[in-house]
Amino acid sequence: MEVLIIQGSARKYGNTNKIVNYIQEKLDCDFIDLKNYTISNYDYDSRNKNDDFLPLMREVADYDLIIFATPVYWYAMSGIMKTFFDRITDCLKIEKETGRKLRGKQMAMVCCGSDKDAVLAIEKEFEMPFRESASYLGMDYKGSGYTWIANEDISEEVIQNLDKFIAKIAK
Ligand SMILES: Cc1cc2nc3c(=O)[nH]c(=O)nc-3n(C[C@H](O)[C@H](O)[C@H](O)COP(=O)(O)O)c2cc1C
Repeated sequence: MEVLIIQGSARKYGNTNKIVNYIQEKLDCDFIDLKNYTISNYDYDSRNKNDDFLPLMREVADYDLIIFATPVYWYAMSGIMKTFFDRITDCLKIEKETGRKLRGKQMAMVCCGSDKDAVLAIEKEFEMPFRESASYLGMDYKGSGYTWIANEDISEEVIQNLDKFIAKIAK
């Protein structure tokens, strides 16, 4: 199974990246950082169809399992990740063959907040856009991982959560 993890944080080497590195090491999967691409906001008239989104999405759609990794910003996914999701609309309108390739593929999500209580208070709602988008795209939603980094390092409790998440999505 080909696995890809897509990081969508405002920081390349911040907390979400620490979580991504942990997962990547365990799953030996490929990695994409959305910060390395120019992907502009969704445009109804597709005036941005020549930016980096469509070529990137063609690569993404080749994977069997796509894991989205986002920080928690204002109780929701990051802006960079939301822009990526908005642009998937292009795969339903102007490049349907890429959208169709997603059918039957798997999706998962891992988020990183600043503390346990804040993250666990929103877990059901936070998952919803990923779970429902997967369903709309005909993808199988494998589950969500909830993490936080209060100081510098990943805590033992977060490692346990991550190990459970990895076991669930790798099945
Ligand atoms: C714009 C912004 C909004 C944030 N909103 C939340 C929030 O709603 N809940 C939360 O637990 N942490 C919030 N945080 C803290 C981050 O989720 C947390 O520090 C995370 O680990 C940062 O990951 P990063 O280094 O990849 O950006 C916010 C941070 C920023 C910069």
